[in-house]
Amino acid sequence: MGHRSWMRSQGFTPEVFDGRPVIGIATTWSELAPCNAHLHRVAESVKRGVWQAGGFPLEFPAMALGETLLRPTAMLYRNLLAMEAEELFRANPLDGVVLLSGCDKTTPGLLMAAASVDLPAIMVTGGPKLNGKYQGTDVGSGTAVWRWEEDLVAGRMTQEECFFAEACMSRSDGHCNTMGTASTMASMAEALGMQLPYSAAWPASDSRRYETAQRAGQVIVDLVNSDLTPSAIMTREAFENAIRVNAAIGGSTNAVIHLLAIAGRLGVPLSLDDFDTLAADVPTLVNLQPSGQYLMEDFCYAGGLPAVMRELGGLLHGGAITVTGRTVAENVAEAPCWNRDVIFAMDAPFKPQGTGTAVLRGNLAPDGAVIKQSAASPHLLKHRGRALVFDSQEAYYAVVGDEDLDADENTVLVIRYCGPKGYPGMPEVSNVPLPKKLLNRGVRDMVRICDGRMSGTAYGTVVLHVTPEAAAGGALALVRTGDWITLDVPSRALTLEVPDEELARRRAEWTAPPPAASRGWTRLYTDHVLQADTGADLDFLVGASGHEVGRDSH
Ligand code: FES
Repeated sequence: MGHRSWMRSQGFTPEVFDGRPVIGIATTWSELAPCNAHLHRVAESVKRGVWQAGGFPLEFPAMALGETLLRPTAMLYRNLLAMEAEELFRANPLDGVVLLSGCDKTTPGLLMAAASVDLPAIMVTGGPKLNGKYQGTDVGSGTAVWRWEEDLVAGRMTQEECFFAEACMSRSDGHCNTMGTASTMASMAEALGMQLPYSAAWPASDSRRYETAQRAGQVIVDLVNSDLTPSAIMTREAFENAIRVNAAIGGSTNAVIHLLAIAGRLGVPLSLDDFDTLAADVPTLVNLQPSGQYLMEDFCYAGGLPAVMRELGGLLHGGAITVTGRTVAENVAEAPCWNRDVIFAMDAPFKPQGTGTAVLRGNLAPDGAVIKQSAASPHLLKHRGRALVFDSQEAYYAVVGDEDLDADENTVLVIRYCGPKGYPGMPEVSNVPLPKKLLNRGVRDMVRICDGRMSGTAYGTVVLHVTPEAAAGGALALVRTGDWITLDVPSRALTLEVPDEELARRRAEWTAPPPAASRGWTRLYTDHVLQADTGADLDFLVGASGHEVGRDSH
């Protein structure tokens, strides 16, 4: 009576308490997360579907993580969203949950929570923005920003032109419209089987985004009735599918960290090396920025992710079950492709096999580092150069415009103390812009090495996620300006050409930086965050707790 009476203050009729499934709709809506600002409207469509199917929908907020505004980085809070949502799912009397996400970290954060609680769940991502339009050309969110910033520095664009262009780039609801991290993670949710086919690509402003949301509302009731839970869907086979799909779409390197973290919640064995070995025989099929030309709106009209998954055929585990109650193979069996310039065929791919994410190892990254080959310059994939070392991106930015900076096109820029503990939160700073004097000379790429991450919308020959990070005493902390570094992507090697004895001497002199915070979430985070090679989750959040709770306090 207590539960019912208080809920009836919202004006529900009595029959909604007749035992029908109670469906939570976790929305990461916020005006501070502009990519998710339309999710309250998406939630209304979900509710329609839940009512239609005989469920009782209840919408509630989960922490919104806006990539562009949150300081020092939204990644610092992914685990906080995951922890908050996990407790909301478990503590409230829910039978199933619909996960509404969009901006980069909201999708993995909610999936991590759903994985740990293991209630029936379905994801509805908010969809990408419409194509940006500037001076008669399509422009992608994020990717264009990096280019315009370089153009501004090099004097090819005025400040006034930049102001005008930024509005042209973001002209509708939705998350970034390149194959950046948000589109990648939406695609990963679909490839894992956790959202409905075609869901990743419908633009946020497309009526079919809302139709899909309504359908998801119907489906979650079915999932509850059949007790089909995330752990039955997100199996090792599902993760293998996701990794291969990520290679085919030229997806973000951030997917590596997020998929490892989600798998960790489920106890699914997944390693950093899986991302290299499983992707090795997968060509890039999708011609989307930042690796290619087009944007998510074009991807949608070309057939979206089902067309890619159908093309991958036998490379995927077709028998993996999805939220539709059907298998991957059944979901995509008839998926058409309408534009072969956007989604290429397996026998004539956009980029050949082996151009996806490579995992590097060596004395500079004993536990691994990654590089997105499709975003790198081919001539730099084998490179030897002298290090120019900075202990923060801020230190680099302070001199990036200096005409007398001791750097040329062969220099290897090392930006460190940007890992999970170091920054803290492992920000997307690794693709620092090139020194102004080299941009003015026409240099467009250099090797950069960092223990941070790179935006999924970025490009360049950037070695990321170097593990262990500098702040944890990794070898990256021991590099000195002038050291020779060899990058050999074909051999998967990253080598600091300094003798072991000298490295041992430097290590003895090294002192760890002071903690980033003395209290609060940042203190909890830095005390417990794991390294990038296992997904940068908190050590005490790895694994599942289920949805059973202790005694009801009421
Ligand atoms: Fe939100 Fe790119 S800033 S998805």
